[in-house]
Amino acid sequence: MEPVSASLPQMFKSTFRIPFLNLKKQYRSIKKEIDVAIQNVINDSTFSGGPYVEKFEKKFAKFIGTKYAVGLNSGTSALHLALKILNTKQGDEVIVPVNTFIATAWAVSYLGAKPVFVDCDRETWQLDPRKIEKKITSKTKAIIGVHLFGQPFDIDAVKRIADRHKLYLVEDCAQAHDAKYKGKTVGTFGDVACFSFYPTKNLGAFGEGGALVTNNPKYALRAKILRNQGSSIKYYHEEIGFNMRMEGIQAAILDVKLKHLNQWNKRRQEIAKTYQTLIKNPNITMQQQPVWAESVYHLFVITVNQRERFIKHLKKNGVESMIHYPIPCHLQKAYRHLEYKRGDFPLVEEYAKHCVSIPLNPEMTNQDVNRICRIINKYAN
Ligand SMILES: Cc1ncc(COP(=O)(O)O)c(C=O)c1O
Repeated sequence: MEPVSASLPQMFKSTFRIPFLNLKKQYRSIKKEIDVAIQNVINDSTFSGGPYVEKFEKKFAKFIGTKYAVGLNSGTSALHLALKILNTKQGDEVIVPVNTFIATAWAVSYLGAKPVFVDCDRETWQLDPRKIEKKITSKTKAIIGVHLFGQPFDIDAVKRIADRHKLYLVEDCAQAHDAKYKGKTVGTFGDVACFSFYPTKNLGAFGEGGALVTNNPKYALRAKILRNQGSSIKYYHEEIGFNMRMEGIQAAILDVKLKHLNQWNKRRQEIAKTYQTLIKNPNITMQQQPVWAESVYHLFVITVNQRERFIKHLKKNGVESMIHYPIPCHLQKAYRHLEYKRGDFPLVEEYAKHCVSIPLNPEMTNQDVNRICRIINKYAN
C-alpha cells in the first residue's frame, strides 16, 4: 500500500504553516536541562510544595525585585489569594478593567465581592485611569490593574487614585513577566502582584502554576498558610484554607526556564519591532505603546475592520491567529446578574469586534516573521 503522505495532493505537502505557538520547539531547545530537573524531583519525591518550590520562590522574588514570592497552582489562585489577604469580603467592590481575561474578575466574585468594570483606553486598549474615579464608592476596596498583552498599564496614574481613596492596588502580571514601567519591573508597584505560569505564558510551566509577590511579610505568611489548607503546622488549621500549592515538578521546570526568560523576552521584543516597522497596511491598527512602557509582548494584537475576512486571508496563507478576547467581561453570560448591557463600555465592545492576535513567540524564525509581514501587507479590505 502507498504511504499516506504519498497519496496526499501536492498542494498539502508544500503548505507552509506558521503556528500561533510552538511549545514543542521550545522544549527541544532546553530538553537536557528540563529532563534533569524533572528527574531530580522524581528522585527526591518532593511533589507538592517542598524544597524545589522554596528554591523557585526565592529566585523569582529576586528576579522580580520583591521580598517574597509565594508559589501557587495557578494565576487565578494568585488573584483569589491576593484579594483574600487584603480582606476583601461580601459587599465590597473591586475595580477591574473590562478588557482582560475573565480570571481577573473571577477573583473578586469568589469572595462574594462585586467586580466594577472600567472601560479601556482607545489607543492602548488598557485600563483607562481617567475612567476609574467615577466608579469609586464607599464600598470600593481595591483596584486591579492588568498589564495586558505584556504591556504595563499607567501605574502612576492608577496608584495616585488608589492612594487618594485609600484603596489597595493589585497588579495582574499574568501576561507580563519582566515588563518594565518607567524602567522598573512590574509586580513591584502594587500591594500584591499576581503571576500565571500557564504553559503558553512568557514563563510557562509544564502544567498549571502561579505566584503571588509582595514586600509585606504579613501578606506573604497569610498566603502561605491559606494555600496549604489554612495550616502552618500539620493538621492544625488556623483558618479555612485552600489547596493551592505549587507542584515540585513545576517549580523545578520554572527554575530552569527563568534562566532563559530574558533572552526569550528580548526575542519577542525583536519580533514586535519588526512587525511595527514592516507592517504597513492602512487597514491595520496596532496597540499604542506609551514611552514609559516596555512590553514583553505576551501577545501581539492588532485591530482590523473586516476581521473574518482578514483571518481567512491569514489562514489561506498558512498563518494561525487567535482572538483575545471575543466577548468583554461585562457581556459574559456568567455576569448576567451584574446587569451590564451592550453599550456600557463602547471602546472595549468596539475593540472586541475587531481584535486579532498574530503569532509572536521566541521560537519563530526571521523567515516566519518577514513572511507574516508580507502576507499582512498584501491584505486589502
Ligand atoms: C490577565 C490574566 N489574568 C489571570 C490569568 C489566570 O491565570 P491562570 O490561567 O494561571 O489561572 C490569566 C491567564 O490566562 C491572564 O491572562
